[in-house]
Amino acid sequence: MHSKEPEFSENDIPDLSGYVAIVTGGNSGIGYETANQLALHNARVYIASRSQERVNQAIGQMSQAAMGKTLDLHFLQIDLQDLKSVKAAAKHFLTLETRLDILINNAGVMTVPFKLTADGLETQWQVNYVSPHVFTSSLMPLLLSTASTLNTKDRVRVVHVSSDAAFFGPDTVQWNDVNMTSTKGVMELWKRYGHSKQAIIRDAKELNDRYSSQGITAYSVHPGIVKSNLQGHDPTLMGKVVRVAMKLGAGDTPLHGALNSLYCATSPSAPVQGQGRFFVPVGKPDSRADKWIKDREGNSRLWELGESQLKRLQ
Ligand SMILES: NC(=O)c1ccc[n+]([C@@H]2O[C@H](COP(=O)([O-])OP(=O)(O)OC[C@H]3O[C@@H](n4cnc5c(N)ncnc54)[C@H](OP(=O)(O)O)[C@@H]3O)[C@@H](O)[C@H]2O)c1
Repeated sequence: MHSKEPEFSENDIPDLSGYVAIVTGGNSGIGYETANQLALHNARVYIASRSQERVNQAIGQMSQAAMGKTLDLHFLQIDLQDLKSVKAAAKHFLTLETRLDILINNAGVMTVPFKLTADGLETQWQVNYVSPHVFTSSLMPLLLSTASTLNTKDRVRVVHVSSDAAFFGPDTVQWNDVNMTSTKGVMELWKRYGHSKQAIIRDAKELNDRYSSQGITAYSVHPGIVKSNLQGHDPTLMGKVVRVAMKLGAGDTPLHGALNSLYCATSPSAPVQGQGRFFVPVGKPDSRADKWIKDREGNSRLWELGESQLKRLQ
């Protein structure tokens, strides 16, 4: 259904000298290549991750592969399963930098077994939706002040990495049971994953609606089907089938998987093509998500739900 041929490649990324970017989960898979390409194009990049050791290893590999070019890469401590850590990461970042041009909420988990975090939220719901919302919202003062210094309204961007699997989830947000506690059966882990990825699509649209007039645009993306560390968790038969299929089937490379995020974060055509929209690779707005994107009331309600998690921390 989606063309394999990228019309945007890493060679189309503009010079990002003077940009400051954050990529969550930039130590592995799609995030690794996203962070790497931003740095290769001269941005200062913070890899926000829960393991300094894994980030240092990733930075070492990127630097080695850069063939003598010095990459401006840094570690930022964050654990998306812990809202206090998310808030602390944003607060710490505000002491490190005076600008933020690009925020890519890439980190995620897929089909992990049902478990509530210490914040009382189902793991996928928290890691894939609530924490990225709280992180972005906590960084909003910096995103806004960065945008206010610029003559252009399309440089400061937020990209949420969602998934095609959003369409495996429920039709709408499960307002009475956001953790989807009562969902059972062979597809239950996929349904919760899809639910969290629907929420982050809606969040990008709402963020764009609220802040594009002040110079911050937002996008959600499906990266493609990519061989990475993501596939390892689902203990059910369905999980085993997916792992075997990923092993046998080609799957995109992490670099190809990074291109949609990189397109939305850097291409001059992304804001023209579809601010607030859900993009499939590479750079194509996908109308399947319009049912959520057009639901202004639902998106605003979801935003308030995310904000209520942030307020709990204050
Ligand atoms: N691969 C695909 O085919 C595919 C398809 C659709 C969507 N996606 C989405 O693409 C994004 C990247 O996935 P990937 O395929 O590159 O997977 P990956 O290789 O497993 O990378 C996921 C990243 O998220 C980080 N992460 C997970 N839980 C975290 C937490 N609690 N706190 C902070 N960081 C955390 C991981 O850190 P650790 O190394 O510490 O675990 C890792 O850096 C995800 O949002 C995923 O849902 C992937």
